[in-house]
Amino acid sequence: MSKIILSGVKPTGRPHIGNYFGAMKQFVDLQNSEPEAIKYFFVADYHALNLIQNAEEMRQHSRDIVLDFLAIGLDPNKSIIFKQSDILEHTELCWIFDAITTVPYLKRAHAYKDAVAKGGEEIINVGTFNYPMLMAADILLYDTDLVPVGKDQKQHVEFARDTAEKFNRVFDSETFKLPEPYILPNVEIVPGTDGQKMSKSYKNTIPLFADDEEIEKIVMGIVTDSTGEKPQNVYNIHKIILSANNASDVVQDKLQKIYEENKGKYKNLKEILIEDLKNFIRPLREKRAELAKDEELVNNILKVGREKAGPVATEKMKQIKKAIGVI
Ligand code: ADP
Ligand code: TRP
Repeated sequence: MSKIILSGVKPTGRPHIGNYFGAMKQFVDLQNSEPEAIKYFFVADYHALNLIQNAEEMRQHSRDIVLDFLAIGLDPNKSIIFKQSDILEHTELCWIFDAITTVPYLKRAHAYKDAVAKGGEEIINVGTFNYPMLMAADILLYDTDLVPVGKDQKQHVEFARDTAEKFNRVFDSETFKLPEPYILPNVEIVPGTDGQKMSKSYKNTIPLFADDEEIEKIVMGIVTDSTGEKPQNVYNIHKIILSANNASDVVQDKLQKIYEENKGKYKNLKEILIEDLKNFIRPLREKRAELAKDEELVNNILKVGREKAGPVATEKMKQIKKAIGVI
């Protein structure tokens, strides 16, 4: 049986280098290193609905994510690229999981706890609360073995495992496989320009397709600690960027040389980082701009993806419906 790899990204705006190094780069690396595996990468548009409640924005961001996927190297001939809302079985299976999941269990979710801490329970919508069950459905519907994600999604993959086990137990069946998260330890938390985890919500991101001017402005604004000789926030981002195209010992050597030669000269170090960032981002940005010229590309790719993923989901759903006794 082929190994199954699956992951999704919410269409919530421009991806940043934290999303790329933490998760999306692994999609491409796995796509190319696992030719025998079946790979699914999808636009998690229903997951984004908790945040994006504007039709034009949703449409635009969803199209953008597909272009982002292609620009970083996902290839529709090697991977199945689809949109969550195109495959009705995702939400259908979510409902089935709701029926076997308790409220206290979902209250353990980090994302839910964070939302409560921020705004209180009253303002949390049911979709946010139920988010892990839709994600479990996304994963389990395709008999997924491996889920490449950033570290903050680990608990969600564990919820999917628990839900698979619970379903199999309740309905005395072997309907679902138990998925494993795939998280690379050296990039599990990519730091932002202020040293905290890079995140859209902290406004400390470097967009993956930033233009040169934007890169200059962002890097010059990186928070530096004036007590040390090495500006740690600059260094950490530099390390990640160089690791895109170099082995870790090469990165180590290069950085050691640069930071030794420019001890205490923060401006020089930032300028070197700017150049390295520009060189890393430029080809991605140019490829993306080229792809965006083809108005039909995204629709065509999503159509092919729907045609490939749809029958798999339908087949699995039959098995699930038999297990619960609705057919
Ligand atoms: P954000 O925090 O900017 O809203 P998302 O929650 O949309 O990002 O994350 C999308 C994917 O990127 C997830 O798999 C997440 O784990 C990963 N990710 C996001 N930020 C980082 C980061 N700073 N380091 C590593 N992975 C990240
Ligand atoms: N929750 C993920 C995120 O915020 C996106 C996602 C939705 C996902 N469904 C998924 C990731 C299934 C992996 C597998 O990034």
